[in-house]
Amino acid sequence: MWSPLSILFAALAPLPSVLALGGPTCLSFKSTQYAITTNSQAATIWIDSSDWPGVHRAAIDLQNDLEKVTGKRPVILNVTMSATTSNSNLDAASNTIPIIIGTVGKSNLVSFASQSSTTLKNKVAAIQGKWEAGISEVVKNPMAGVTAGYVIFGSDKRGTIYGIYDFLEQAGVSPWYWWSDVPYKNHSAIYAFPNVTCSHGEPSVKYRGIFINDEQPALTDWVIEKFSNGTVANRPPFNRFMYSKVFELLLRLKANYLWPAMWNSAFGVDDPLNQFTADYYGIVMGTSHQEPMLRSSPVEWNQFGSGQWNWDANQANLAKFWTDGVKRGAPYESIYTLGMRGTGDLPVDETGNIDLLQRVVAAQRDIISNVFNKSASTVPQMWCLYKEVQGYYQRGMRVPDDVILLWTDDNWGNIRRLPAHDERNRTGGAGVYYHFDYVGSPRDNKWGSAHNLPKFHHQLGLAKKYGADKIWIVNVGDIKPHEISLDFFMTYAWNTTIWSKDDLDKYRKSWALREFGSDSLAPTIADLVKRFSHLNSRAKVELYNSTMYSLTSYREAEGVMGEWDALVSSSNQVSSQLPAVYQPAYFQLVHHPIIAGRNTQALYIDAGYNQLYASQARSQTNQKADAVEANFEYDEDIRDQYHGLLNGKWNHMMSQTHLGYFYWQQPMLNSMPSITRVQKRQTALPGPMRITVEDSKGAWPGDNSNQCSQGYNCPPPNVPALTPYSPIQNRYIEISAGGPTPYTWTASSNVGWLKLNQTSGSIPDAYAGQRVLLSVNWSAVPVGTSPTGVVTIKSNGGQSVTVSMIADYKTVPSGFSGFVESGGIVSIQTEHYSRSTAVGGVSWEVLPQYGRNLSAVSPAISVDARWAPGAGPVLEYDFYTYNSVNGNITVTVYSAPTLNTAPGYPITYAIAVDNNTPITVQPMPLETDRGDLPSIWSVVVAEEVIRTTTSHKAAPGKHTLKLFATEIGFVTEKIVIETVSGSVAYSYLGPPESVKV
Ligand SMILES: *[C@@H]1O[C@H](CO)[C@@H](O)[C@H](O)[C@H]1NC(C)=O
Repeated sequence: MWSPLSILFAALAPLPSVLALGGPTCLSFKSTQYAITTNSQAATIWIDSSDWPGVHRAAIDLQNDLEKVTGKRPVILNVTMSATTSNSNLDAASNTIPIIIGTVGKSNLVSFASQSSTTLKNKVAAIQGKWEAGISEVVKNPMAGVTAGYVIFGSDKRGTIYGIYDFLEQAGVSPWYWWSDVPYKNHSAIYAFPNVTCSHGEPSVKYRGIFINDEQPALTDWVIEKFSNGTVANRPPFNRFMYSKVFELLLRLKANYLWPAMWNSAFGVDDPLNQFTADYYGIVMGTSHQEPMLRSSPVEWNQFGSGQWNWDANQANLAKFWTDGVKRGAPYESIYTLGMRGTGDLPVDETGNIDLLQRVVAAQRDIISNVFNKSASTVPQMWCLYKEVQGYYQRGMRVPDDVILLWTDDNWGNIRRLPAHDERNRTGGAGVYYHFDYVGSPRDNKWGSAHNLPKFHHQLGLAKKYGADKIWIVNVGDIKPHEISLDFFMTYAWNTTIWSKDDLDKYRKSWALREFGSDSLAPTIADLVKRFSHLNSRAKVELYNSTMYSLTSYREAEGVMGEWDALVSSSNQVSSQLPAVYQPAYFQLVHHPIIAGRNTQALYIDAGYNQLYASQARSQTNQKADAVEANFEYDEDIRDQYHGLLNGKWNHMMSQTHLGYFYWQQPMLNSMPSITRVQKRQTALPGPMRITVEDSKGAWPGDNSNQCSQGYNCPPPNVPALTPYSPIQNRYIEISAGGPTPYTWTASSNVGWLKLNQTSGSIPDAYAGQRVLLSVNWSAVPVGTSPTGVVTIKSNGGQSVTVSMIADYKTVPSGFSGFVESGGIVSIQTEHYSRSTAVGGVSWEVLPQYGRNLSAVSPAISVDARWAPGAGPVLEYDFYTYNSVNGNITVTVYSAPTLNTAPGYPITYAIAVDNNTPITVQPMPLETDRGDLPSIWSVVVAEEVIRTTTSHKAAPGKHTLKLFATEIGFVTEKIVIETVSGSVAYSYLGPPESVKV
């Protein structure tokens, strides 16, 4: 497997400008004793003419790319030699070392070198027979008369190809040079470090692939424009020219597997050379979960099949259809999808389904064995347990042991099932079908990308540890804009051991450095990606509505907009510092998601303010309406800007509709959120001065349904009390216009301790608004008292409103350390525990950036570990309260919507306050045995959180909350304790974290 030595060297090397993500650094742009190419001397590449055509093709990429990087075209020596005799052509240039390429068993260069050099003989023996392994390093005297060579030998075709692309990545060529227009980094000379190995493999996951899916409108319209020569038959031109771009990208990402586009495409038919080309490149072809036997369904069936898609009714035709598919695929490397899905094809009675499906699989195995003329168990096959098919498995259906069981996520990134103990030694093993893109309930997810790396990392980490590592395939929609997610997915699949949960910042920085080449900007770019991804992973754009983030409580909406605004300005700064050649890549990968993300968020939040302000008789209603209209226009401008890049290279790629969902399916046209307007010449009935306050939807003076329950003759407003432990140490009053009449105002406090940040101002026009901040001078309040102060706001037109606030001078006993209640709430980020205790070597771990807030915690992944309630690893949180409801408090745990992946052992946690008996809670109900997701599922995946509440005895005072692990896989990010009933106001993210003393 992985040589620890190579990782050690990577760690010792200085921060490289030369890198392949996650790999050691073997190349250098500073002089070493081994030059591969110098300022004056081009590189030399040796390859054996008998090697795989796909290796030759990659060698030509090496030649072309190195020419772009160094300005000098490498010379390829394409030698024909016997295994034992040298070829006189093998003449290294005097001051450089050759790059020697070869595949074990296919290249006489390898055989010859193994005979001349004992070092190489041993190294070759070490990789021989392995899957996609390779030697990649400087070898001294690789053959007689050659002092040294940079050897790239693979155990098989892809083992060599990955070595070539890894070399190029280090030399300054991003895998995304074409798909995201990442510029070649220019270096006139390239050297190799002695004594460092970039040897690789076997990879952590055997088949690493993508599914191009949901490919209309963006990808399909782009393909029609770019690959059609103007004539499009009945189906879009997903031909070998288009797929060559995909195959090459996959190989550069060290991936090997593809499910092709199938909405209105038939890979094996639309271009008869598609399958050949995939194999020539080195890509293993498959078809999706619902397309058995390597044939596009239903497209091909509709074209070539006859009769019903129903095994019992139409066996002969289906068998012939599938036989043709296997014959067509047989010359090439493929994985055959078994089974059959479809609504019209299965009997209603459930037992009948399983029996039928088992007969279908048996017939498919016979077909495979007949076509290959050998046991079906030697041909790669998979059975995908997607949606209801998992139900069949749960109720006992099995396939032969050699078939890979492909478990799935819930289409929202939560894996439904992991191999149980007795399933881990199947010869076929298991895999995971995962989603970045999805069409379906509760909403499509087709436009943006969250790059939710902490979640992918955790879920896929579970998959690897539980042995689901034969296939990882991810639904990437249109490929763009999932570039970063895909890059990480493949980097992780290639080697899960070097990317821990704490390495995601390192990953992003390496990524940013590789793509943008700037040591100084890379950390900022990495941080921008992390921040926009975090904001996007709180909710898909398709699910936004105008009141999702609270407009009045916890300053939630304005906090979110503040984060987006900071991102836009920081991204503008980076963009202004990047050379022109980097602009297209930067726009696609970083700037577009930021400006488009900010804009869609602003669109909805402003629409929310628009409605709220109208109800409050504020003239700023119209300003917000204008803003919504402008943002709606700007959304189109941003799309057009993307489409206009590089003379339209990516035209159509952002044409996915995303605004104005009415149900789960994409709208056929974007529509703007509803807005309203107020009359411009009319003044609000009570006069032009409008007063609104923090944490209330009401407005004063005059009547408003949100002022008090009866909605008229309500008392003047108050703002929530401040205590020394309030997370935000001030409250606000907003003064705004209720009509076109300008006015001036004054504000005064009736007590010395209540401070105002401004005491007068003017509202010169209808769009003006000002905030007065109220804070407390605690030294002027006696400890333990809770006086009320009153602020009076007067307009020069004679209007007057009073706002009251309590200063609640609470204290905690000296020596107390922990979270302190304020406003009836204790809110805790789970990573801020007081104590953590391991059990049997397993403890809770912090998952940085996981979830909607700061981070999350989860029991370290320890396969099959589970504990009785109260016996497992425990996190303790000390907290202090002043209230209770009849001696009780409620505790709401915000956890990730992870599914119950272990049959018979649902994911739970156990929770206790002080030394009371722990209560066990199961956040996610079980799936039905028919494979239906639990009914809460569509709500909790949409919000990316499950909130579960327990009640505990806790009189006011000091307490300890204990969170016990019971099952691996539980993830929680926030705990909210309510000590006064109803004190937690609506918000999307929950109350801000309490003060910890
Ligand atoms: C080397 O020669 C073989 C046989 O003539 C040819 O098929 C192959 O494309 C050549 N390779 C390169 C890299 O030029």
